[in-house]
Amino acid sequence: MTNNDETEGAAPVTAAQSMAELAAMEEQYAGGTTARRGDVVMARGEGCWMWDVEGRRYLDLTAGQGVAMLGHSHPALSAAIAEQASRLIACPNFFYNDVRARFVAKLVEVLPDHLSHVFLSNSGAEAIDGAIKYARLATGRTGIVATMRSFHGRTIGALSLTWEPKYRKPFAPLLDVTHVPYNNVERLDAAVDENTAMVIVEPVQGEGGVNMGEAAFMQAAQRICRERGALLVVDEIQTGFGRTGHWFGHEHFGLQPDIICLAKGIGGGFPMGALAYTNRVHTALYPGAHGTTFGGNPLACAAGLAALEVYQREELIDRAAEMGQMLFDRLNAALANRTVVREIRGLGLMAGIELRERVGPYLRALMEEHAVLALPAGSNVLRLLPPLVISAEEIEIGVEAIARVLSDEGG
Ligand SMILES: Cc1ncc(COP(=O)(O)O)c(C=O)c1O
Repeated sequence: MTNNDETEGAAPVTAAQSMAELAAMEEQYAGGTTARRGDVVMARGEGCWMWDVEGRRYLDLTAGQGVAMLGHSHPALSAAIAEQASRLIACPNFFYNDVRARFVAKLVEVLPDHLSHVFLSNSGAEAIDGAIKYARLATGRTGIVATMRSFHGRTIGALSLTWEPKYRKPFAPLLDVTHVPYNNVERLDAAVDENTAMVIVEPVQGEGGVNMGEAAFMQAAQRICRERGALLVVDEIQTGFGRTGHWFGHEHFGLQPDIICLAKGIGGGFPMGALAYTNRVHTALYPGAHGTTFGGNPLACAAGLAALEVYQREELIDRAAEMGQMLFDRLNAALANRTVVREIRGLGLMAGIELRERVGPYLRALMEEHAVLALPAGSNVLRLLPPLVISAEEIEIGVEAIARVLSDEGG
């Protein structure tokens, strides 16, 4: 079966609801904030593949925006969600819950040893907002230092940490945050003072352009935080759960952050987020310090527990490192003579191909002409975040399509 196979696995189309009608319906009632990729209406996924409602098959090199790390609809994940759905879907946090207990124990098992406690949220931005509160509580300070080109989400708290002016400007005033250039130790050193509650970094900046964190900067950030009593917060929302070839991106730099923020891969695609933190941070908490109705929902915890078991059982973290090496070898070989390519960079199965032109038309051509899905990062980086289960053959199909759209003739 090729990626242009139009029939295999095709989802049935309801007669009255063509792809264009469904797209128009969604846009009419829920449009306005998302720039869509044409009228494509997705209906089904399996492994690294997605199908639209007309049965066209796409190779998904985005893992559904970095979340479906086990591949789409992994049988163990689907079964765990279905089983839990038939048993208990809602359980308030003022009761303990069997699956929540098992999930948090498993999560702490896969976390670095010094991160001994977790708080469960529903999304990445909510985890970031939680980190701001926890850092302020644990330090009794208010100051926040983040980096230029960062992306931490779009709630008012998370947006305050996010750098991109076009996202921030319409919503000013935001929280007061000092942004220093990524990887600039001197500027960081100058920005952290006795009022700084936290410094937040991404190990690799995802949305900002797949920009690589440097070990010297990351280690200096930790040292400066320790010296001045600020907390080091690492945003692992995109880099966590094997994306970079380690369980967590900060492990590449030998860091021991005070707090890490998690989401995306934590539930294998099920909406979920978390904060993980040290015992020192934990001691600052008290009942009512933070909370959420849906965080720790049994269905999400069943998904999270199943996902963590699959990461371990299928050894997906090592696999990400191995397949990542293959991906970069193939990208470097196939794109060596492409004049539009400025640089190929990344870690594990997180890849950025920086172009000398805007990336939008290339992403469209990849999807429309080759049925391959990729993401932008900034205006001129083509970003790949494939599921960790991607095969050598699927890498080959993807790289070949990318090489064709980036060829001097295009197409
Ligand atoms: C590094 C990083 N932080 C935070 C977020 C925000 O997460 P969410 O979209 O779940 O709110 C994202 C989302 O892309 C992200 O990549």
